[in-house]
Amino acid sequence: MGQQRTDVCIIGCGPAGLILSQLLKLAGIDSIILERQSRTYVQGRIRAGVLEEGAAQTMIDIGMGERLKKHRMLHDGVVISLDGQRHRIDLKKHSGGRQISVYGQHDSVRDMIAFRLAAGDPIIFEAADVVLNEVKGDTPTATYQKDGETHQVTCRYIAGCDGFHGVSRKTIPDDEITEYHRAFPFAWLGIMAEVAPSSDELIYARHSRGFALHSMRSQTLSRLYLQVPLDTNVDDWSDEQIWDELDIRLGADENWQLNRGKIIQKDLAPLRSFVVEPMQYGNLFLAGDAAHIVPPTGAKGMNLAIADVRALASGLDKKINHNDPSGLEEYSAICLRRIWNAQRFSWWMTSMLHQHTDQDEYQQRIQFSDLEHLLSSDSYKNVFAENYTGLPFEV
Ligand code: APR
Ligand code: PHB
Repeated sequence: MGQQRTDVCIIGCGPAGLILSQLLKLAGIDSIILERQSRTYVQGRIRAGVLEEGAAQTMIDIGMGERLKKHRMLHDGVVISLDGQRHRIDLKKHSGGRQISVYGQHDSVRDMIAFRLAAGDPIIFEAADVVLNEVKGDTPTATYQKDGETHQVTCRYIAGCDGFHGVSRKTIPDDEITEYHRAFPFAWLGIMAEVAPSSDELIYARHSRGFALHSMRSQTLSRLYLQVPLDTNVDDWSDEQIWDELDIRLGADENWQLNRGKIIQKDLAPLRSFVVEPMQYGNLFLAGDAAHIVPPTGAKGMNLAIADVRALASGLDKKINHNDPSGLEEYSAICLRRIWNAQRFSWWMTSMLHQHTDQDEYQQRIQFSDLEHLLSSDSYKNVFAENYTGLPFEV
């Protein structure tokens, strides 16, 4: 059996695992990343694209944000459309000067993988059947299969950064954790299209036919979404039907035009919320999607993952370098405060902007009134902008 040793074994090579590995490296702590999929697969996975100011700055500060700095689109505001009426929220003004970075998550992941490998730091791709052992003891291990052989990593801590379907959370006995779930009765049909964005800023549209979102990746690449029923088969939607529907839901007046172009990717994502408490079991710490999921409406998924690993890296630094356990003891509580706030914000945005088939006329009026209040009140806009651009980090 192949044997390896490290301080922290990181399971999963998404944003959480990659950023954690670099934060640890800067603190002089050694880590190995084990990833189930191939490098090509991980780099090709299309995900969201909005970074809070603090999340983008974290990537830049740790040296992994060179391309982000160059290619991101910095936005000062977002647009909310109510049945065709556009209203801009000036995020910069209402958040005390913060901006958001629009940059694809898969671009960030590609940049960070290249950075880590160029520095000669290990990522083991196609590590199959990862099993975690002795996570309550002083020397936990992770075994995996690769090239027909069994390998074992012996470490001091394991970071479970392996997403919602990963093995880390499942290693924890059921009676040691509590899981909170909420499934929304609709999904998003997402498209990536080779066409210039039709708007300088993101448009979140509430429409009687369902929610739509206009986002972007560059001056030549647009990312758009439609609210659809959960049982939708994306192949049942022709490209023309998708553009027509986006046109209706995002449409403003005759002066605005939705640019159409070649659709290069179509995907379907159900909307759900999930939290596990606590995010620790012995020397195993969960971070990112392994511990929580938010519906994409608030654009919080990757941002929460970054906040988690900042807290985890700080706790590991205190313990490993200064023999101070306080950061690790507080890890779960620190993260969960931010997570529940993001859960609330994402739930609120999702509820306000989507059409709910189970909602009566009364609830719809309340929903509309809430949005009208947001758009007419500076203090409500401050609350929105503070949440959307991201609260300060606790550590
Ligand atoms: N063994 C090894 N790796 C695994 C295993 C396993 N058993 N199971 C899953 N993985 C890998 C996945 O292949 C993936 O590359 O863990 C990685 C988890 O990455 P993400 O899903 O990107 O999760 P995370 O790093 O927490 O990032 C959160 O990503 O899912 C989005 O919306 C989410 O934007 C948020 C962000
Ligand atoms: C995206 O660009 O993919 C995106 C943007 C904002 C969201 C969700 C997704 O709220």
